[in-house]
Formats: sequence, C-alpha cells, structure tokens
Amino acid sequence: MDISEIVQLADELVFVKTGKHLEYLQEAILRGTLQGQKYAQIAENSHLSEGHVRDVASELWKILSDGLGKDISKANCRAILESGNIYDFSTAIGQGHVKINNVNICQDTSQSPQVTPQPQQTPTRSHIDLGDAPEIFSFYDRTHELATLENWIVRDRLRLIALLGIGGIGKTTLALQLIEQIKSNFDYLIYRSLRFSPTPDAILTNLLQIFSQQGEIPQAIETQLSQLINYLRKYRCLIVLDDLQMLFSSAQLAGQYKSGYEDYQLFFKQIAEVCHQSCILLISWEKSREVAALERVNNYVHSFVLGSLGVAAKQILRQHNLSDEDCWETLINTYQGNPLWLELTATTIQELFRGNVSEFLECNECDAPILCESLQAQLDRQFQRLTPQEQAVTIQLANQTEPVSLPQIRKTVELSTSDLLNAMQSLGRRFLLDAKEQGKTSFFSLNPVLQQYVKNRYGN
Ligand SMILES: Nc1ncnc2c1ncn2[C@@H]1O[C@H](COP(=O)(O)OP(=O)(O)O)[C@@H](O)[C@H]1O
Ligand SMILES: [Mg+2]
Repeated sequence: MDISEIVQLADELVFVKTGKHLEYLQEAILRGTLQGQKYAQIAENSHLSEGHVRDVASELWKILSDGLGKDISKANCRAILESGNIYDFSTAIGQGHVKINNVNICQDTSQSPQVTPQPQQTPTRSHIDLGDAPEIFSFYDRTHELATLENWIVRDRLRLIALLGIGGIGKTTLALQLIEQIKSNFDYLIYRSLRFSPTPDAILTNLLQIFSQQGEIPQAIETQLSQLINYLRKYRCLIVLDDLQMLFSSAQLAGQYKSGYEDYQLFFKQIAEVCHQSCILLISWEKSREVAALERVNNYVHSFVLGSLGVAAKQILRQHNLSDEDCWETLINTYQGNPLWLELTATTIQELFRGNVSEFLECNECDAPILCESLQAQLDRQFQRLTPQEQAVTIQLANQTEPVSLPQIRKTVELSTSDLLNAMQSLGRRFLLDAKEQGKTSFFSLNPVLQQYVKNRYGN
C-alpha cells in the first residue's frame, strides 16, 4: 500500500467518524509521519508552530485509534495502517462502509454533512458526454505528453490538473485524444468548454444533470458542490473543463476571475482538497491563481505546460501539401511548433506560393516570422487581454534583440517596480515570455511570434 492509498483510507475513516474530511494539516501530519518526518519538520513545511502541529496530531491519532479500535500513535501509525490488506476502497464507499484492517466501519449518514445521492444504477461501461467538443480528424505524436498525463490521472490519481499553454498549441486536441486513450478507466468522461463563460451555478447544474437525469438540482452552490463531490467519490470520473481563460477578466492581470465567477475558486479548491476518486482537467491559456497556489501545497494538484509539437508538425505541413521538405524544420521552429500557427501559415503558403516553403521563407528578410492576417487576428485576441502595464512591457521587450534582465527592463519601462514585477509575472502566466537563467540572473525575452506581432502593431 503506498502513502496516497493510506491517506485515502484514513480520510474515509476520519469522514466516517467525524463527518469531515482530513484537513490540510491533518493530511500533512499523516503524510509526514508516513515519510518518517519529525513533528518539527512537518511544522516547518507547513509554516506552523510545532506545538500546534502536535496538538492537531494528537487529535488525529485519537480519531484513528477510535475508528480502528487500536491505539495509534506517531510511532506505530505506519505499521498499523499498512498492515491492513483486506479493503476495497471503491466498493466500500459505494456500500457505505469502509473496511480497514479487517475492521468494518459502518458509515453513519446522520453524521455526514452531505446528502449522498444514490443514482439509479452503476454504469456498466463508460458514460461519455463530450458536449460541444471539436471533432479530431488527425492527431500526431504527443507520446510523451500523453504518457505523463495518463500517469498523473490513472496511476497517481491526481484530483486537479491544469493543462496550460499558449492558444493554438494543441491543448484541446491533446485532451480529447487523452480521453480516447484512457476512457476504459472511468465510469464517466465529460468535456465542457467554458468559452461562453457559464456561471458556476450553470456549469454545476449541467454536470449534476449528467449524473441524475430526473433528480432535482439544488439551488445553493454549496449543496451543488457537495452533491457533485459525492458523485466524484462514488464514480471514477474525468471531467475536462476547457477554455478556463474565458472566466478571467480581460485587461486585468492573468487569472483574475470576472466578477460573479469567484465561486469557481471554491469549486476547484474543493476538488483538490476533498477526498474522491475522480479528476478534473482544466485547460487554459492563462494559469489560474488557485492552481498556482494549490500545487505548491497539495500533492493532488499539478499543472502541465504544453510546448512545441516539434518535428511531428511536419505531418501538418504534409497535410497542407507543402513542398521543399528541407526547409520544413526552419518553418516549424519559426512558428515554435504551434500547430495552429503552422496551419494558418501553411494555408497562406499554399494560396500565395503554391505550397513552396523556400519561396515563402525567402520573403522573410531578417529571420522574423511573417504573420499572415489570420495569425495576426489570432494574436489580437491574446494581446487584447493584457493590462496596459503588460502591453508597455511587451512593447519594450519587442525592441530588444537579446534577452534582458529585470534591472535592464526597469531602466526602459516607466512603471513602478511592483507594477513591473506584476506585469512580468502575469506575462509569464500567459506563456508569452521566455525566461533563461544565466548564473544567478534571469533573462527574459518575448515569444518571437508575439515580438513580431507587437512590432507590426506598434510600427517598431
Ligand atoms: N497533436 C496534434 N496533431 C495534429 N493536429 C494538431 C495537434 N495538436 C493540435 N493540432 C491542430 O492544431 C490546431 C489547434 O489545436 P487546439 O487543440 O485547438 O489548440 P489549443 O486548444 O491549445 O488552442 C487544431 O486545428 C488542431 O487540429
Ligand atoms: Mg482549445
């Protein structure tokens, strides 16, 4: 039994005994103890006093001892929890009892703060509802990315994953391919795009309707959320929520929810913190603040930044009937292996150069990418989301021929230090900056395609 399994079982046990799931600190104490850490170390990692950690720990050992009918302490916790070999986590939850170390603990539903909905029947095969997901006609490579995400979801049972990257890099396509690849592991596979900015109430209602077609959907967000979590606990579900960036305000620093959408924070935080057997995959071209904060402290939360499609993008160029294969790698590098940027550019090469890539590249005098109108329009959508401060920084960075350090940028941009730092951090969270470490200094440059876009736009 690995540590995650033990923590999951302990969480169920605590839930059965107290009606509440393991809190952050309780989980940190349990994990720390299972990893052989001392209280002082756990306290330091949690930024709390050792005395407080000891108090919470002693309460936790009491609950576990009570639940298992054995005297559990920090010293024997691992041995006792690990020795249990008869347990069936998923069926135990479904049947309202948990079996640990041969001790069968009946779930007292009167203690539970949540009403456990009982769907009519367990699906015998995966229930797949992809909503308005685009159809994927061709899919190339991404072997490594698929393997990593599959491991995180299927093997490590992460609860919240953010799939991030600049627009057009292939996030939606990758997620849909992933669903196809791992669907047999799940009872429910659901895809929803948030591109029309549904309110939290609308999306939760929509999700709950999938699980209970006739059931009444509660009004209060807390009850909707607790019902959803009950389903996520009862069934193994993969829910993909795409276009998360549409919930964030335009012209504000990256990842700030529009007003009226703040409950999404609560939604995602709950998904990450409460014990269940499902995974929510968030797709966005801006990193959300709660994911950034959660992934530092919660092992069930990770983010994955998608990069270039690499040489596999040649197949996209082949599909567009381009010629001069010798130059294809140059073309792919110029457009940073971004499949959408390559598709848009390939269409222009086909229309104006009869598919001749070298003729197209020859037009390009100083190695700067040529931005066709459709690519320019695509970048407009991303650039318009920047704050005036971020735009000021990008204009300065677009003038630079080499990566520059923060003090160097500071000299050229008329912004206070805090405005500059916030703008830089936000540009990073939108994946528009490239950063390189040299010695102890970080050097920044703009994404070269965006750099050309800014030059075109501001006539530099
Ligand atoms: N691995 C891939 N193989 C083939 N085509 C791809 C791949 N990834 C992306 N594409 C194509 O690139 C375009 C942009 O992909 P998409 O998934 O919509 O990007 P994102 O969601 O990151 O904005 C789509 O037309 C898609 O078909
Ligand atoms: Mg997409």
